Amino acid sequence: MSQKNSRIVLVTGGAGFVGSHAVLVLLEEGYSVIVVDNLVNAYKAENEELPESLIRVMKLTGKSLIFYNINLCDKNALKEVFSKHKIGCVMHFAALKAVGESCTIPLTYYSNNITGSIILFEVMKEAGVKNLVYSSSSTVYGNPQFLPLTETHPTGQGCTNPYGKSKYFVEEILKDLASSDKSWKVISLRYFNPVGAHPSGDIGEDPAGIPNNLMPYISQVAVGRQPKLLVYGNDYETHDGTGVRDYIHIMDLAEGHNYALKKLFSQDFSGFKAYNLGTGCGYSVLDVVKAFSAASGRKIAYDIVGRREGDIASSYCDSTLAFKELGWKANRLLTDMCADAWRWQSKNPNGFQ
Ligand code: WQD
Repeated sequence: MSQKNSRIVLVTGGAGFVGSHAVLVLLEEGYSVIVVDNLVNAYKAENEELPESLIRVMKLTGKSLIFYNINLCDKNALKEVFSKHKIGCVMHFAALKAVGESCTIPLTYYSNNITGSIILFEVMKEAGVKNLVYSSSSTVYGNPQFLPLTETHPTGQGCTNPYGKSKYFVEEILKDLASSDKSWKVISLRYFNPVGAHPSGDIGEDPAGIPNNLMPYISQVAVGRQPKLLVYGNDYETHDGTGVRDYIHIMDLAEGHNYALKKLFSQDFSGFKAYNLGTGCGYSVLDVVKAFSAASGRKIAYDIVGRREGDIASSYCDSTLAFKELGWKANRLLTDMCADAWRWQSKNPNGFQ
């Protein structure tokens, strides 16, 4: 690790949903955090230096952080950050992530998610920082050949959209990098469906425009921002015909990054390793509607409509490897996910604005 400080973590995309919760956990664990974010998916008031999500993270933790408004494709700006701080490790969240949008503007997705990542890795290499936790996705598995999904399931086959492919390609790049130079230590965390919010209800998911994902959509129906939920298909081979997913509480997910960091800095770790972060439980769309309705005390109006293109029937993981090797497992239940998502949404009906 030479003169680098393993307690200084650079977090790309730290102002976003997953990133901001991970930053909170890192600060609570006593790390110094430097956030790089281009604010493409985060709100910053004109008179403020920092995005609102990070202002709130600082209030919640009573700790401060350093923020740079930088696009990862701006190599010189990124180099300057590495020259100013003794960064010991990078957590790389920054990416565009809307599946549907990625099909309409693939080049923008590839440029942001792949070129941005390559530039980051180049700068890390030049600076001698070779410790990385990468934010990957269950989408790398494509349409499951078996369930529950283990890390040995093939990846890259049947990834139907540029977003999912970009996550898969970056994993492949990282595998090549780690095998070319044994001093790299890389952990790729494959997230299932992150939902919920910090239990304070002060930070949470704040999608721009109409939400694409189920939980934020349901929350907006509950709070009256959307009239009703459209349930995409009830003719899947699942217990009630609607799609089944492995929802994971954002705080469990954020804590998973802390465990990954500990593993990264342990003597026995080297190379590239991927871990599933999920609960291992599958819930259908209607299970989530019911749980959210109970947590919020609001009726969730919905219509059943046709299937959404590219959707799969079921996806849930086996997260034993993360437990065995990282010592991590998800502890929070669907009821906690709904209660916390509702607290965030009802306290902040218009998100961070
Ligand atoms: C969940 C279920 C829909 C919206 C997401 C990301 C993906 C990956 C995993 C990070 C499905 C149904 C949804 C709605 C609905 N995460 N649905 N009405 O598709 O599993 O994928 O999480 O990388 O990249 O996109 O999540 O929340 O969109 O859908 O009926 O308005 O809810 O059909 O069965 P998905 P989702």
